[in-house]
Amino acid sequence: MNSGGCLGISSMKPCSNILILGKKSSIFGSPLLKRGHSGEYNLSKSQLKLYYSSIKANCSHNRKILGFRRVIDSNRRVFGGSGSNWGQSKVFLADRVKKNGSFRSVIANVASNIRNNSNSVGSRLPENSFENIYIQGGFNVKPLIIERIEESQDLFEKDEEKGKAEEVKVNDGTFGDTNRFSEAEVSEPTLGIHVSEVEKEAWELLRGAIVNYCGSPVGTVAATDPADKQPLNYDQVFIRDFVPSALAFLLNGEAEIVKNFLLHTLQLQSWEKTVDCYSPGQGLMPASFKVRNVPLDGRDGEFEDLLDPDFGESAIGRVAPVDSGLWWIILLRSYGKITGDYSLQERVDVQTGIRLILNLCLTDGFDMFPTLLVTDGSCMIDRRMGIHGHPLEIQALFYSALRCSREMLTVNDTTKNLVVAINNRLSALSFHVREYYWVDLKKINEIHRYKTEEYSSEAVNKFNIYPEQIPGWLVDWIPDSGGYFCGNLQPAHMDFRFFTLGNLWSVISSLSSDKQSEGILNLIEEKWDDLVAEMPLKICYPALEHGEWRIITGGDPKNTPWSYHNGGSWPTLTWQFTLACIKMGRPELARKAVAVAEQRLPGDSWPEYYDTKQGRFTGKQARLQQTWTIAGYLTSKMLLRNPEMASMLFWNEDYEVLEKCVCGLKTGRRNCSRLAARSQ
Ligand code: GLC
Repeated sequence: MNSGGCLGISSMKPCSNILILGKKSSIFGSPLLKRGHSGEYNLSKSQLKLYYSSIKANCSHNRKILGFRRVIDSNRRVFGGSGSNWGQSKVFLADRVKKNGSFRSVIANVASNIRNNSNSVGSRLPENSFENIYIQGGFNVKPLIIERIEESQDLFEKDEEKGKAEEVKVNDGTFGDTNRFSEAEVSEPTLGIHVSEVEKEAWELLRGAIVNYCGSPVGTVAATDPADKQPLNYDQVFIRDFVPSALAFLLNGEAEIVKNFLLHTLQLQSWEKTVDCYSPGQGLMPASFKVRNVPLDGRDGEFEDLLDPDFGESAIGRVAPVDSGLWWIILLRSYGKITGDYSLQERVDVQTGIRLILNLCLTDGFDMFPTLLVTDGSCMIDRRMGIHGHPLEIQALFYSALRCSREMLTVNDTTKNLVVAINNRLSALSFHVREYYWVDLKKINEIHRYKTEEYSSEAVNKFNIYPEQIPGWLVDWIPDSGGYFCGNLQPAHMDFRFFTLGNLWSVISSLSSDKQSEGILNLIEEKWDDLVAEMPLKICYPALEHGEWRIITGGDPKNTPWSYHNGGSWPTLTWQFTLACIKMGRPELARKAVAVAEQRLPGDSWPEYYDTKQGRFTGKQARLQQTWTIAGYLTSKMLLRNPEMASMLFWNEDYEVLEKCVCGLKTGRRNCSRLAARSQ
């Protein structure tokens, strides 16, 4: 957890979250304000002030969310959803429900439509990379048109009314008895079926964690520990932490908070961000944000809400939240899948947001591997833990985000090269991870006999892994059947630790083959006493101990052996386990884990993590009433109750990506590794 405080109010750039104008936007006659181009495009101070005060007035006096006027994109996909604005998802869903008579079939239609619109693997990336092309496009289409706030707000209000009028009750037993997509405010669990006292308590706590911005819900804080006198940044909305909350709300038919979250974080993406005179890429999403209620300039006794993001500039160790943008894309797709409201992902500003994130991930660098190169602590494990380089968690989220983007991107002249780049990367990434990250008894045996220092493109031991690296614990631990993806792979370095989130998300996204996915679940089952024990699930296994702990964590007192990120047990991971189990047709495994969690979580006040090898004690510094613990539990319960909903959230094998070779090395002296691997 990052203990640094938020940016001081004085150093905030209060306007930049809304200064996202189309190049040709007419406001002040000025084009897009973009980091790195301020000299060319910046608005004058007086323009900024004028603009900002109009927005501030809008938020603080009316206490309404900033309205968005939808920009019509001429390249919309043909299957394209309802073409709605705020609130119209209600109409869309209601319509479908009436026609099909059950929620289940609505979802199936939506899912197959969108899948048919995935694009196939194309040819090699052309000389002029996608980046030049789509950044240009980005300038042309950038999003919010704010000179018409009043009009858009009216529109929003009208949609609200319309939505209320068309509210529909669904009672088919598959999804509770009330469809709540059309309700702005929900104050109690809406599941019509019997929910236990534990679930009721969890819903109450989850709702207690909701944060409002200008009168509308925009997210949930990380924890609401009543005894916590020093919340550090646990009183902020973390992007990654909000995902299980969002899913719980979506699965319960409450979409508004998720839509608000997606749109507000999208605005934060374009915030100008600087750490000691250096600015990271524009597409970076914050790790978290805080809603601050501050006195309004020059108005006595009046206050306004401000969004204050943390891009890592306040975080301990200044870690870059690489996973935030990936989670944002994943959540955006889930929102469309579950609500059937695809108009959100079709909006021009949202499309641009996706492209900016992908730009950061797909930019050419010095890399030799298709995996994403990141610094230590760039994901759920946000402190030094020796996971810099190519950690599995980031690769699995990256792969999922690419698959989501391919489904969601509008294909046109601006994006077609980007789509080719996505397909190529998907193909290379899945081959690389499946081939080189996989660890099982057979593979360890191979590594045990590896020759080293092989200089040739035909080398078997491509990464020059020394057999001495096989850790003692693994020799006894690896089961006869089953296996997993190792935590990281770099030259002469294989991190053999088992990282739960990366492995589960590989199953969910089909980064692992079906056989490997089965192997991963087999291993978890076989090693239940190590990975689940008295609280699901270990964040990684085993812990770093003794000298290794000292060197790799830098002597971090929070990450002592079998605590926190270093082998602690994190109940929030249960929802990802549940999803993976449902996908692989093994819900009983998930049920077993949820039952273990359920027995202790309420009595222990829903802690963030547990300590010790077996997860027996509440984590030494664990926050209580940790929101993603609560939301993870609720999401698991709902997925188990409605497994058909789970299919909205996972992916099956993509055979096209699998089959295609994009490297072009089919013949001659240097062979394609993929073809060579297949012929073995
Ligand atoms: C800790 C976790 C991080 C989480 C944050 C807020 O720092 O490591 O993943 O987002 O707490 O709960």
